[in-house]
Amino acid sequence: MPFKMSIASLKETLEVEKELIKSTLEQMESENIHETAVKNLLSKLQTDITSFVTKIKADFEDGLKEYDMVKYLNNMLKLEYKGIFDYNYYASLATDKELADRLREFGAVEIQHAQMIIDKIRALGAKPKIPGAAKRAKYTDVLEMLKEHAAAEKEAIELCEEGVKIFTDPEFQWLLGTIRVDEISHQRVIKELVKKFENVQMVFKIQEKYNPPKEINFKSDEPWTEG
Ligand SMILES: [Fe+2]
Ligand SMILES: [Fe+2]
Repeated sequence: MPFKMSIASLKETLEVEKELIKSTLEQMESENIHETAVKNLLSKLQTDITSFVTKIKADFEDGLKEYDMVKYLNNMLKLEYKGIFDYNYYASLATDKELADRLREFGAVEIQHAQMIIDKIRALGAKPKIPGAAKRAKYTDVLEMLKEHAAAEKEAIELCEEGVKIFTDPEFQWLLGTIRVDEISHQRVIKELVKKFENVQMVFKIQEKYNPPKEINFKSDEPWTEG
């Protein structure tokens, strides 16, 4: 991790510690504990952390922004993986050809998005947090699954819009702009699919064991590890 990322991470940790020190001091006060040496040490730590944070904010503003950008991108990555897992999973179960094809297409696009995000995180000198295939709600009802993913696409669009307002890095703006356009198109197609299946009772036959498509390749990462 480059120095500017390490120091931003340290600042974040120390700010949490500072809150803990504050509540400890308050607790000492409310319980009438008069350990002067401890109290003085805690107060000194509090002052030192405050001056460290002030100094870092003044000297490493760009590093702090990049650190926040990495956090934002890792958060976005979670959403992309939800799409990768679910769309490929349900595509493998769908008996309706149009539905299977669309879900497979969406899954492929989410893989591209995840790869773009991973590349950007690495370019910033940080490590992507690859989500594991955590236990997910498994829908048997096609319509319910589609509605849940229409909401997830909406969340992704909103996240992109929020991101471009916060970070001005041109490459980041391009990345988020590209993803947003794809998610809008997914949302539109899902709405059409919802209409198609609204009056059709169709269910998925759930498979507990699922092997993801082989073409997924995230270099040395193992995105499909159960987590
Ligand atoms: Fe996506
Ligand atoms: Fe999407």
